[in-house]
Amino acid sequence: MADEVGGGLAGRTALVTGAGRGIGRAVALGLADLGADLVLLARSSRQLEATREELAGRGVADRRVLLIAADLGDEEQRTQAVDAALARGRVEILVNNAGTVEPLGATAEIPASDLRWAFEVNLIAAVALTAAVLPGMTAAGWGRIVNVSSGIAAAPEAMVRANAYAASKAALEAHSLNLAEELRGTGVTVNVYRPGRVDTAMQEWIRGQDQERIGAALHGRFTRFASSGELITPERAAAALLARLGGEETGRVWEVDDPV
Ligand SMILES: NC(=O)c1ccc[n+]([C@@H]2O[C@H](COP(=O)([O-])OP(=O)(O)OC[C@H]3O[C@@H](n4cnc5c(N)ncnc54)[C@H](OP(=O)(O)O)[C@@H]3O)[C@@H](O)[C@H]2O)c1
Repeated sequence: MADEVGGGLAGRTALVTGAGRGIGRAVALGLADLGADLVLLARSSRQLEATREELAGRGVADRRVLLIAADLGDEEQRTQAVDAALARGRVEILVNNAGTVEPLGATAEIPASDLRWAFEVNLIAAVALTAAVLPGMTAAGWGRIVNVSSGIAAAPEAMVRANAYAASKAALEAHSLNLAEELRGTGVTVNVYRPGRVDTAMQEWIRGQDQERIGAALHGRFTRFASSGELITPERAAAALLARLGGEETGRVWEVDDPV
């Protein structure tokens, strides 16, 4: 039953980054409901453990879940994380969801090291994880890669003083669509997912920043998203991703409200 609903995801192993909270956590819970085994990655062990507890409460056996606490911005930790994931077996589904909206502020005042960090987390980590799991996917003739982006890639002017986020998400989308074409016909699909405006810690963090530093426009925009009640739940954002994950589409930019 889970297999019919999940488009063949039952029994597959999925690596989800940023699975300790927010959208990544909701994707992980949804994948478990569809019968997938899980490798869950984030920096915070405590939040990963909380996700595991939630899974256990839903009857997901511990052997179906591997937790990896690692900083994706750190190459050494990333390599160790990938080794730990692959030691468990082939990764058939990769959801590169972890991301950072930092650094925020006037573009000319952003140190190059902070910009590098944003690209490391939002782009390089996704590419590196993909490179690590891809040989197994192509050998099997089946794989699903989803890179979680943002509407900012389509409208970079909408988030002034979030230049690193805009640039790194645009780069992530270009990488994804280019790779999808490279892999066309292999059975491995690569798609981008823009989750919409989601009620998560990332939104809350932006609202909590100093207006002077991040600019009244950016601060006001995110405060309005919350006060107007337009933020959607992480569960809704995850459901729209999962509804498409089992299909054969590749090289697409999925939006949360697109009809499935
Ligand atoms: N919320 C929105 O409205 C929205 C809109 C458009 C796009 N997105 C995108 O959706 C994705 C998920 O965002 P969210 O809103 O769910 O954010 P969130 O609640 O802040 O969750 C982000 C997750 O990524 C992990 N993470 C962040 N930096 C990491 C690092 N260096 N290494 C490993 N894990 C790291 C975090 O865990 P640790 O801190 O423990 O590492 C956390 O589990 C992001 O790519 C974001 O850009 C969100």
